[in-house]
Amino acid sequence: MLEIDKPNSIRITTAPGLVEFLQHEVIELGYTVDEAYDTTVALTGTLRDCMRLNLRLRTAIAVHYLLGAFPCGGPEELYANCIAISWEEIVPLDEYVCVDSRGDHPSIDNWMFVNQRVKDAIVDRIEERYGARPESGPDRHAIVINVYWKNDQCSVSLNTSGAKLSDRGYRKIPLKAPMVETLAAGVVMATGYDGSVPFVNPMCGSGTLAIEAALSATGRAPGLLRSNYGLMHVKGFDAEAWRRMRVDEGKSRRKNAPAKIIASDIDPKAVAAATQNAKTAGVDHLIEFVVCDFGETPVPSGPGIVVLNPEYGLRLGVSEALERTYKRIGDFFKQKCPGYTGYIFTGSKELAKRVGLRTSRKIPFWNAKIECRLLKYELYTGTRDAPVS
Ligand SMILES: C[S@@+](CC[C@H](N)C(=O)[O-])C[C@H]1O[C@@H](n2cnc3c(N)ncnc32)[C@H](O)[C@@H]1O
Repeated sequence: MLEIDKPNSIRITTAPGLVEFLQHEVIELGYTVDEAYDTTVALTGTLRDCMRLNLRLRTAIAVHYLLGAFPCGGPEELYANCIAISWEEIVPLDEYVCVDSRGDHPSIDNWMFVNQRVKDAIVDRIEERYGARPESGPDRHAIVINVYWKNDQCSVSLNTSGAKLSDRGYRKIPLKAPMVETLAAGVVMATGYDGSVPFVNPMCGSGTLAIEAALSATGRAPGLLRSNYGLMHVKGFDAEAWRRMRVDEGKSRRKNAPAKIIASDIDPKAVAAATQNAKTAGVDHLIEFVVCDFGETPVPSGPGIVVLNPEYGLRLGVSEALERTYKRIGDFFKQKCPGYTGYIFTGSKELAKRVGLRTSRKIPFWNAKIECRLLKYELYTGTRDAPVS
């Protein structure tokens, strides 16, 4: 049985471009970071820590708790080392197991084969002990085992999250080009938003940025929105400790309401979806939704934060209409947002130039495989036209 308070190595993964925010979150929660890589933060902790990390982290994709690590030169060694792990103490017979793997090894050109061999080792070992095999397959709704194999070194971990943590569960109505929740959380963090000033989000689409802003301003643990986690399916799962932790996390949110959060979109269907999503996330009372052109978005007097995620011509390329939109965003910033800090999240350098204002920072992000920037503009009262930087 896995012990809830046994310290071990924990690896938390995130998307490219978000590791700096993840590291900051982990430190804020009081943990010491052992190492940070491109998309991973490593620390030492227990399964109880994994429970907390799953509930609290906003920019993490998965929290992995180490089960075994060994040198590994090829598939047969992999199988031999994996069958030596006491799976019968981890995987209940009536549970379902999924294996995923990642890495780089000269003996492997198809990582599905690694998944298959590790899955074989798990179920062969359990069958040897109990005469029956647990179900297995690609679904991530129960036990997920992660294999990381690089430079002849292999680690096998329990993915305590199961399904990706970016799937918070509040986005029930899918729309075109929604921002992944963890990326939206990173963007909100990059703006330095803390709830003390208005947060205005024209072109809100499905509302992800406004919802993540509301969740963070009220200190809500995003993981409370979800009920199923990988860690709940293993032998030794402490259901009572988990229940208590969820109750405590629920109580720890901030009581003060944040300053106004406003989200608008020209598409009534987007606003309806965003409103429903906010309701599901339990933050609809904190967000004012408006159907309007972005230029008509009500903007409370500054200081404040205004963030737009316009389309950037991904599928159809840069059009004249998009060029006009970006130019109009610049006009909107100048005319309607004095005293604000303005942000535009875009994947097009060409369109960014059409804004016609000087950026004070360009923060790199990745949206799936597209290199993007969060462009920052200081919108002083009476911002003047400035050469494009
Ligand atoms: C890339 S999507 C935003 C996605 C959003 N961040 C999310 O997470 O769902 C761009 C949004 O801009 C809206 N839009 C396009 N032109 C607009 C305009 N002139 N005024 C207001 N909204 C506009 C679209 O309806 C679309 O919902």
